[in-house]
Amino acid sequence: MVLGLPTALLAVVSTLLFSPLAVHAADLESVLAGQANLTTFRGLVKNHTDIFASLPKGVTVAAPNDNAFKKLGNWETYNESTIAATLKYHILKQTIDMPSIAKGDSIWASTTLTDEAFSSVTDGQRLILTKQPGGEVVFTSGFATRGTVLVEDLAFDNGLVQVIDSVMRVPETLESTARSAYTDLTAFVGALYATDLMSEIAKLKDVTIFAPRNAAFQQLAGTLAAMDTEKLKRVLRYHIVPGQLSHVWEFKNASSLASADGDDSKLTITRHTNFIYINSAEIIQADILIANGLVHMIDNILDPEQADARPDVSLTTAQAPVFTPVGETATGTDVPTPFATALPCTASCPVVQATGTAAPKGAGGGDGQGASSSNAGGALPRCTGLAGAGLGIGLAVGAVMVGL
Ligand SMILES: *[C@@H]1O[C@H](CO)[C@@H](O)[C@H](O)[C@H]1NC(C)=O
Ligand SMILES: *[C@@H]1O[C@H](CO)[C@@H](O)[C@H](O)[C@H]1NC(C)=O
Ligand SMILES: *[C@@H]1O[C@H](CO)[C@@H](O)[C@H](O)[C@H]1NC(C)=O
Ligand SMILES: *[C@@H]1O[C@H](CO)[C@@H](O)[C@H](O)[C@H]1NC(C)=O
Repeated sequence: MVLGLPTALLAVVSTLLFSPLAVHAADLESVLAGQANLTTFRGLVKNHTDIFASLPKGVTVAAPNDNAFKKLGNWETYNESTIAATLKYHILKQTIDMPSIAKGDSIWASTTLTDEAFSSVTDGQRLILTKQPGGEVVFTSGFATRGTVLVEDLAFDNGLVQVIDSVMRVPETLESTARSAYTDLTAFVGALYATDLMSEIAKLKDVTIFAPRNAAFQQLAGTLAAMDTEKLKRVLRYHIVPGQLSHVWEFKNASSLASADGDDSKLTITRHTNFIYINSAEIIQADILIANGLVHMIDNILDPEQADARPDVSLTTAQAPVFTPVGETATGTDVPTPFATALPCTASCPVVQATGTAAPKGAGGGDGQGASSSNAGGALPRCTGLAGAGLGIGLAVGAVMVGL
């Protein structure tokens, strides 16, 4: 008798610890109903039986709380197809319990979002789960939208529910991601338009793109202006790895990737302490999710004719460009951004006449933030509205991943 009670307690404790899935599994609706502040998501689950009534076994449902929908602000404007895609993007094809993720590690999880209109990534569009040094798990989605897990590992019949504090955004095209979230990629996107490569890139599946930030283009404005279009096309294609989703934590030192520039065209990874380089350019923001793959932002433009360029890992300052700079090399938001005028205008992006050329100012743009091109000079009609939307997105995930 005296020994019996502790033994029984131990049995209960070990059941809770070691087999969370075996404890009180229940249907999704009743598990959601048992939580405060999930009214909107519960309503969506009820309204979309096509998605939720026949879930396969072994999934993880990311359930945004009511405040997450409020924070999003424009959920009411989502149409039915976007709502359905967003819900499918909240269902991971694996059961992932939060304690199983090691601190500092990331999981690249496939979701049930496979609709061609929203994703051209094999096996379903991805979410990234990262366990922060403090132990909390952060989900990362398109447009750098992140959500922290508030309630972990609620068991239901088909797997686990994780309550999160943001609605995950379905990744969009490179162009829309550059316009709305990562404005530091607008020169690269403009260059793809200027060379008629945009439609080619947009059609690729499972693509990995190394996209130089705006400052890299500003620094080489004169060099790029003097480059003929065929060479510029080769240079841009060299930044594209088709048919291979490569995230940063899979990169091995001295491994190579095949670029779209041609059969023998290789890009080489160097890892040194917390830094990751592609040829001699540093990856400054990793794993930006887009509809057809992912983007790693880099600090310099790569040259297919200098594929053997390697970083000087002893440098404490930025790596030098592989191209020889000609003329003006200033960077920053007050400096015209090459190719900004090549971005087509959209309905939300009225054509305006630019007023004069902003005076070049000292080097900046080293913070990885969007160097908005709204100050770019020149006489051509150009888009406005590229600034602003993406401000405030941090580099936290990149920092965590690069810091592996
Ligand atoms: C639910 O939301 C209310 C209002 O935001 C908050 O005060 C409360 O703590 C939340 N409850 C839970 C369990 O998160
Ligand atoms: C569910 O559908 C009903 C009826 O169309 C609608 O009034 C309600 O707003 C929907 N709930 C959610 C959360 O979308
Ligand atoms: C739904 O909204 C998305 C994004 O705003 C848009 O691209 C799509 O064309 C819309 N679909 C329908 C059927 O209206
Ligand atoms: C990475 O590879 C390069 C080239 O092979 C080598 O010189 C370097 O020592 C390697 N670094 C590490 C950390 O293994």
